[in-house]
Amino acid sequence: MGKKVAIVTGANRGIGYQVARLLLQQFPGDVIVTGKDTARGRRACAQLTREGLKPIWHELDVTQSASIRMFLDFITETYRGVDVLVSNAGTVFPKDTPLSIYRQAELTVNTNFKGTMSLMRYFLPLLRPHARVIVVSSELGVLSSLGDKIRKEIDLNKVTMFELDKLADKYLSAVKSNVWAEYGWPDRILEAVSVLQNALVYVIARDLRADCRRNILVNAGCPGWTRTEQMETHLDENGCLGGVVARSPEEAAVDIAWLALLPCGTDSPNGNIINKRQIVKNE
Ligand SMILES: NC(=O)c1ccc[n+]([C@@H]2O[C@H](COP(=O)([O-])OP(=O)(O)OC[C@H]3O[C@@H](n4cnc5c(N)ncnc54)[C@H](OP(=O)(O)O)[C@@H]3O)[C@@H](O)[C@H]2O)c1
Repeated sequence: MGKKVAIVTGANRGIGYQVARLLLQQFPGDVIVTGKDTARGRRACAQLTREGLKPIWHELDVTQSASIRMFLDFITETYRGVDVLVSNAGTVFPKDTPLSIYRQAELTVNTNFKGTMSLMRYFLPLLRPHARVIVVSSELGVLSSLGDKIRKEIDLNKVTMFELDKLADKYLSAVKSNVWAEYGWPDRILEAVSVLQNALVYVIARDLRADCRRNILVNAGCPGWTRTEQMETHLDENGCLGGVVARSPEEAAVDIAWLALLPCGTDSPNGNIINKRQIVKNE
Protein backbone atom coordinates (compact mmCIF):
# COMPACT_ATOMS: atom_id res chain seq x y z
CA MET A 1 0.00 0.00 0.00
CA GLY A 2 1.25 3.53 -0.85
CA LYS A 3 2.01 6.21 1.75
CA LYS A 4 -1.05 7.72 3.47
CA VAL A 5 -2.28 10.94 1.89
CA ALA A 6 -4.76 13.72 2.69
CA ILE A 7 -6.01 16.21 0.10
CA VAL A 8 -7.57 19.63 0.76
CA THR A 9 -9.12 21.68 -2.06
CA GLY A 10 -9.13 25.49 -2.04
CA ALA A 11 -6.44 25.36 0.62
CA ASN A 12 -4.46 28.50 -0.22
CA ARG A 13 -6.54 30.64 2.14
CA GLY A 14 -9.51 30.77 4.50
CA ILE A 15 -10.93 27.65 6.10
CA GLY A 16 -9.17 25.30 3.67
CA TYR A 17 -5.75 26.72 4.55
CA GLN A 18 -6.40 26.20 8.26
CA VAL A 19 -7.72 22.65 7.69
CA ALA A 20 -4.55 21.84 5.72
CA ARG A 21 -2.45 23.37 8.52
CA LEU A 22 -4.13 21.18 11.15
CA LEU A 23 -3.78 18.08 9.00
CA LEU A 24 -0.09 18.88 8.45
CA GLN A 25 0.27 18.91 12.22
CA GLN A 26 -1.83 15.82 12.98
CA PHE A 27 -2.31 13.53 9.96
CA PRO A 28 0.17 10.62 9.78
CA GLY A 29 1.04 10.99 6.09
CA ASP A 30 1.46 13.55 3.32
CA VAL A 31 -0.91 16.51 3.02
CA ILE A 32 -1.53 17.93 -0.44
CA VAL A 33 -2.42 21.62 -0.44
CA THR A 34 -4.34 22.36 -3.63
CA GLY A 35 -5.79 25.47 -5.24
CA LYS A 36 -6.54 26.96 -8.62
CA ASP A 37 -3.71 29.48 -8.68
CA THR A 38 -0.10 28.33 -8.39
CA ALA A 39 1.38 31.66 -7.25
CA ARG A 40 -1.18 31.95 -4.41
CA GLY A 41 -0.75 28.28 -3.53
CA ARG A 42 3.04 28.49 -3.37
CA ARG A 43 2.80 31.57 -1.12
CA ALA A 44 0.48 29.66 1.23
CA CYS A 45 2.85 26.68 1.26
CA ALA A 46 5.83 28.96 1.97
CA GLN A 47 3.96 30.27 5.02
CA LEU A 48 3.23 26.72 6.23
CA THR A 49 6.87 25.74 5.65
CA ARG A 50 8.00 28.69 7.80
CA GLU A 51 6.00 27.06 10.62
CA GLY A 52 8.09 23.90 10.22
CA LEU A 53 5.36 22.01 8.32
CA LYS A 54 5.89 20.05 5.07
CA PRO A 55 3.05 20.85 2.65
CA ILE A 56 3.03 19.42 -0.88
CA TRP A 57 1.53 21.81 -3.42
CA HIS A 58 -0.51 20.77 -6.46
CA GLU A 59 -2.64 22.92 -8.73
CA LEU A 60 -6.32 21.88 -8.85
CA ASP A 61 -9.21 23.86 -10.28
CA VAL A 62 -12.28 21.82 -9.36
CA THR A 63 -14.34 23.34 -12.18
CA GLN A 64 -11.93 22.04 -14.87
CA SER A 65 -12.03 18.32 -15.71
CA ALA A 66 -8.54 18.51 -17.26
CA SER A 67 -7.16 19.93 -14.02
CA ILE A 68 -8.87 17.21 -11.94
CA ARG A 69 -7.54 14.52 -14.28
CA MET A 70 -3.97 15.84 -14.05
CA PHE A 71 -4.21 15.85 -10.29
CA LEU A 72 -5.74 12.36 -10.32
CA ASP A 73 -2.76 11.10 -12.36
CA PHE A 74 -0.34 12.62 -9.83
CA ILE A 75 -2.15 11.02 -6.87
CA THR A 76 -2.52 7.64 -8.60
CA GLU A 77 1.15 7.50 -9.60
CA THR A 78 2.49 8.75 -6.28
CA TYR A 79 0.12 7.24 -3.71
CA ARG A 80 -2.19 4.75 -5.51
CA GLY A 81 -4.99 5.67 -3.10
CA VAL A 82 -6.52 8.41 -0.92
CA ASP A 83 -7.10 8.43 2.85
CA VAL A 84 -8.61 11.89 3.43
CA LEU A 85 -10.37 14.12 0.91
CA VAL A 86 -11.60 17.54 2.04
CA SER A 87 -13.68 19.25 -0.64
CA ASN A 88 -13.53 22.82 0.60
CA ALA A 89 -13.13 24.88 -2.60
CA GLY A 90 -16.00 27.30 -2.90
CA THR A 91 -16.99 30.78 -3.87
CA VAL A 92 -17.88 33.36 -1.26
CA PHE A 93 -18.81 36.82 -2.60
CA PRO A 94 -18.22 40.11 -0.80
CA LYS A 95 -21.35 42.06 0.17
CA ASP A 96 -20.97 44.70 -2.55
CA THR A 97 -20.11 42.32 -5.38
CA PRO A 98 -21.00 43.83 -8.77
CA LEU A 99 -21.97 40.40 -10.16
CA SER A 100 -25.61 39.65 -11.00
CA ILE A 101 -27.50 37.19 -8.79
CA TYR A 102 -27.49 34.74 -11.69
CA ARG A 103 -23.71 34.94 -12.17
CA GLN A 104 -23.15 34.46 -8.42
CA ALA A 105 -25.48 31.43 -8.42
CA GLU A 106 -23.77 30.00 -11.49
CA LEU A 107 -20.26 30.36 -10.03
CA THR A 108 -21.39 28.91 -6.70
CA VAL A 109 -23.16 25.93 -8.30
CA ASN A 110 -20.20 25.28 -10.61
CA THR A 111 -17.59 25.40 -7.87
CA ASN A 112 -19.28 24.22 -4.67
CA PHE A 113 -21.65 21.63 -6.11
CA LYS A 114 -20.58 20.57 -9.62
CA GLY A 115 -16.87 20.92 -8.70
CA THR A 116 -17.37 18.71 -5.65
CA MET A 117 -19.35 16.20 -7.69
CA SER A 118 -16.66 15.92 -10.41
CA LEU A 119 -13.98 15.56 -7.77
CA MET A 120 -15.97 12.73 -6.16
CA ARG A 121 -16.60 10.98 -9.49
CA TYR A 122 -12.85 10.90 -10.18
CA PHE A 123 -11.62 10.17 -6.66
CA LEU A 124 -14.21 7.77 -5.19
CA PRO A 125 -12.54 4.75 -6.86
CA LEU A 126 -9.23 5.71 -5.19
CA LEU A 127 -10.56 5.87 -1.62
CA ARG A 128 -8.95 3.33 0.67
CA PRO A 129 -10.76 1.45 3.44
CA HIS A 130 -11.23 3.83 6.45
CA ALA A 131 -11.01 6.88 4.16
CA ARG A 132 -12.66 10.08 5.40
CA VAL A 133 -14.38 12.43 2.96
CA ILE A 134 -15.61 15.86 4.04
CA VAL A 135 -17.54 18.33 1.93
CA VAL A 136 -17.43 21.80 3.49
CA SER A 137 -20.95 23.22 3.11
CA SER A 138 -23.60 24.76 5.34
CA GLU A 139 -26.07 23.39 7.84
CA LEU A 140 -28.57 25.87 6.34
CA GLY A 141 -28.92 23.53 3.37
CA VAL A 142 -31.45 21.15 4.89
CA LEU A 143 -34.42 19.71 2.98
CA SER A 144 -36.89 21.63 5.15
CA SER A 145 -35.53 24.87 3.68
CA LEU A 146 -37.16 23.86 0.36
CA GLY A 147 -40.73 24.52 -0.73
CA ASP A 148 -42.98 21.48 -1.41
CA LYS A 149 -42.55 21.48 -5.19
CA ILE A 150 -38.79 21.00 -5.15
CA ARG A 151 -38.72 19.06 -1.87
CA LYS A 152 -40.65 16.22 -3.58
CA GLU A 153 -37.84 15.86 -6.11
CA ILE A 154 -35.27 14.89 -3.48
CA ASP A 155 -35.98 11.50 -1.94
CA LEU A 156 -32.69 10.78 -0.20
CA ASN A 157 -33.27 7.02 -0.39
CA LYS A 158 -33.50 7.03 -4.16
CA VAL A 159 -32.08 10.19 -5.68
CA THR A 160 -28.93 9.75 -7.80
CA MET A 161 -25.93 12.01 -8.44
CA PHE A 162 -27.17 12.47 -11.99
CA GLU A 163 -30.60 13.64 -10.77
CA LEU A 164 -29.00 16.07 -8.31
CA ASP A 165 -26.95 17.46 -11.18
CA LYS A 166 -30.13 18.01 -13.20
CA LEU A 167 -31.73 19.72 -10.17
CA ALA A 168 -28.75 22.08 -9.98
CA ASP A 169 -29.40 23.02 -13.63
CA LYS A 170 -33.09 23.57 -12.82
CA TYR A 171 -32.09 25.84 -9.94
CA LEU A 172 -29.91 27.93 -12.25
CA SER A 173 -32.72 28.19 -14.82
CA ALA A 174 -35.08 29.35 -12.07
CA VAL A 175 -32.56 31.99 -10.94
CA LYS A 176 -32.07 33.13 -14.54
CA SER A 177 -35.84 33.67 -14.88
CA ASN A 178 -36.11 35.23 -11.43
CA VAL A 179 -38.54 32.55 -10.24
CA TRP A 180 -36.45 30.53 -7.78
CA ALA A 181 -38.74 31.39 -4.83
CA GLU A 182 -41.86 30.30 -6.77
CA TYR A 183 -40.20 26.92 -7.35
CA GLY A 184 -39.45 26.55 -3.65
CA TRP A 185 -35.71 27.26 -3.63
CA PRO A 186 -34.33 29.16 -0.61
CA ASP A 187 -33.55 32.83 -1.07
CA ARG A 188 -29.84 32.62 -0.24
CA ILE A 189 -27.58 31.06 -2.89
CA LEU A 190 -25.35 29.42 -0.26
CA GLU A 191 -28.43 27.76 1.25
CA ALA A 192 -29.74 26.40 -2.07
CA VAL A 193 -26.33 25.10 -3.13
CA SER A 194 -25.72 23.54 0.31
CA VAL A 195 -29.00 21.60 -0.04
CA LEU A 196 -27.51 20.02 -3.17
CA GLN A 197 -24.09 19.44 -1.57
CA ASN A 198 -25.59 17.88 1.56
CA ALA A 199 -27.84 15.61 -0.52
CA LEU A 200 -24.78 14.61 -2.58
CA VAL A 201 -22.94 13.65 0.61
CA TYR A 202 -25.88 11.51 1.69
CA VAL A 203 -26.06 9.77 -1.70
CA ILE A 204 -22.31 9.00 -1.77
CA ALA A 205 -22.36 7.61 1.79
CA ARG A 206 -25.53 5.61 1.01
CA ASP A 207 -24.02 4.06 -2.13
CA LEU A 208 -20.66 3.33 -0.45
CA ARG A 209 -22.39 1.18 2.19
CA ALA A 210 -22.63 -1.58 -0.44
CA ASP A 211 -18.94 -1.19 -1.37
CA CYS A 212 -16.39 -3.87 -0.44
CA ARG A 213 -14.03 -1.20 0.95
CA ARG A 214 -14.92 -0.94 4.63
CA ASN A 215 -15.49 1.99 6.92
CA ILE A 216 -15.37 4.89 4.48
CA LEU A 217 -17.12 7.87 6.12
CA VAL A 218 -18.51 10.74 4.05
CA ASN A 219 -19.87 13.84 5.79
CA ALA A 220 -20.78 17.47 5.16
CA GLY A 221 -18.91 19.77 7.54
CA CYS A 222 -20.52 23.13 8.34
CA PRO A 223 -17.94 25.67 9.50
CA GLY A 224 -20.62 28.06 10.81
CA TRP A 225 -20.28 31.73 9.88
CA THR A 226 -16.54 32.22 9.59
CA ARG A 227 -14.57 35.48 9.30
CA THR A 228 -12.77 34.79 6.05
CA GLU A 229 -11.74 37.55 3.64
CA GLN A 230 -15.05 37.87 1.73
CA MET A 231 -17.34 36.92 4.63
CA GLU A 232 -15.90 39.77 6.70
CA THR A 233 -17.86 42.22 4.49
CA HIS A 234 -21.17 40.60 5.56
CA LEU A 235 -20.55 40.99 9.30
CA ASP A 236 -21.88 43.81 11.47
CA GLU A 237 -19.74 45.96 13.80
CA ASN A 238 -19.87 43.20 16.43
CA GLY A 239 -18.55 40.61 13.99
CA CYS A 240 -22.01 38.96 13.74
CA LEU A 241 -24.22 37.73 10.91
CA GLY A 242 -27.92 37.27 11.74
CA GLY A 243 -27.06 37.67 15.44
CA VAL A 244 -24.46 34.88 15.33
CA VAL A 245 -20.83 35.73 16.12
CA ALA A 246 -18.60 34.58 13.27
CA ARG A 247 -15.76 32.22 14.17
CA SER A 248 -12.14 32.63 13.11
CA PRO A 249 -10.99 30.33 10.25
CA GLU A 250 -8.70 28.60 12.79
CA GLU A 251 -11.66 27.76 15.04
CA ALA A 252 -13.89 26.63 12.17
CA ALA A 253 -11.13 24.37 10.81
CA VAL A 254 -10.77 22.44 14.07
CA ASP A 255 -14.16 20.76 13.63
CA ILE A 256 -13.59 20.03 9.94
CA ALA A 257 -10.20 18.47 10.73
CA TRP A 258 -11.86 16.44 13.50
CA LEU A 259 -14.12 14.83 10.87
CA ALA A 260 -11.08 14.14 8.68
CA LEU A 261 -9.25 12.46 11.55
CA LEU A 262 -12.06 10.23 12.90
CA PRO A 263 -10.24 7.05 13.99
CA CYS A 264 -10.43 3.73 12.09
CA GLY A 265 -13.50 1.73 13.02
CA THR A 266 -15.65 4.79 13.85
CA ASP A 267 -18.99 4.21 12.12
CA SER A 268 -20.80 7.48 12.81
CA PRO A 269 -21.33 10.15 11.63
CA ASN A 270 -21.73 9.01 8.04
CA GLY A 271 -23.77 10.74 5.35
CA ASN A 272 -24.60 13.51 7.82
CA ILE A 273 -24.36 17.28 8.10
CA ILE A 274 -22.11 18.13 11.05
CA ASN A 275 -21.88 21.44 12.84
CA LYS A 276 -19.67 21.78 15.92
CA ARG A 277 -19.35 17.97 16.01
CA GLN A 278 -23.12 17.49 16.24
CA ILE A 279 -25.39 15.90 13.63
CA VAL A 280 -27.86 18.33 12.04
CA LYS A 281 -30.98 16.47 10.92
CA ASN A 282 -31.52 16.79 7.17
CA GLU A 283 -35.33 16.81 7.12
N1 LIG B 1 -16.99 31.50 5.54
C1 LIG B 1 -18.19 31.07 5.89
O1 LIG B 1 -18.87 31.67 6.76
C2 LIG B 1 -18.76 29.81 5.29
C3 LIG B 1 -20.00 29.35 5.75
C4 LIG B 1 -20.52 28.17 5.21
C5 LIG B 1 -19.81 27.48 4.23
N2 LIG B 1 -18.60 27.97 3.79
C6 LIG B 1 -17.90 27.20 2.77
O2 LIG B 1 -16.58 26.95 3.22
C7 LIG B 1 -15.68 26.85 2.12
C8 LIG B 1 -14.48 27.74 2.35
O3 LIG B 1 -14.97 29.06 2.52
P1 LIG B 1 -14.01 30.27 2.95
O4 LIG B 1 -14.87 31.20 3.71
O5 LIG B 1 -12.74 29.76 3.51
O6 LIG B 1 -13.77 30.92 1.51
P2 LIG B 1 -12.51 31.69 0.88
O7 LIG B 1 -11.67 32.33 1.94
O8 LIG B 1 -13.09 32.55 -0.18
O9 LIG B 1 -11.67 30.49 0.25
C9 LIG B 1 -12.21 29.77 -0.81
C10 LIG B 1 -11.12 28.89 -1.38
O10 LIG B 1 -11.67 28.15 -2.47
C11 LIG B 1 -10.81 28.35 -3.59
N3 LIG B 1 -11.49 28.18 -4.87
C12 LIG B 1 -12.47 28.94 -5.43
N4 LIG B 1 -12.80 28.45 -6.64
C13 LIG B 1 -12.03 27.34 -6.83
C14 LIG B 1 -11.90 26.41 -7.88
N5 LIG B 1 -12.63 26.51 -9.00
N6 LIG B 1 -11.00 25.38 -7.75
C15 LIG B 1 -10.24 25.27 -6.64
N7 LIG B 1 -10.29 26.16 -5.61
C16 LIG B 1 -11.19 27.17 -5.72
C17 LIG B 1 -10.26 29.75 -3.42
O11 LIG B 1 -9.10 29.91 -4.23
P3 LIG B 1 -8.60 31.40 -4.71
O12 LIG B 1 -7.93 32.03 -3.51
O13 LIG B 1 -7.65 31.07 -5.81
O14 LIG B 1 -9.82 32.15 -5.16
C18 LIG B 1 -9.95 29.71 -1.93
O15 LIG B 1 -8.78 29.00 -1.68
C19 LIG B 1 -16.49 27.25 0.89
O16 LIG B 1 -16.89 26.07 0.21
C20 LIG B 1 -17.70 27.97 1.46
O17 LIG B 1 -18.84 27.87 0.64
C21 LIG B 1 -18.07 29.10 4.29
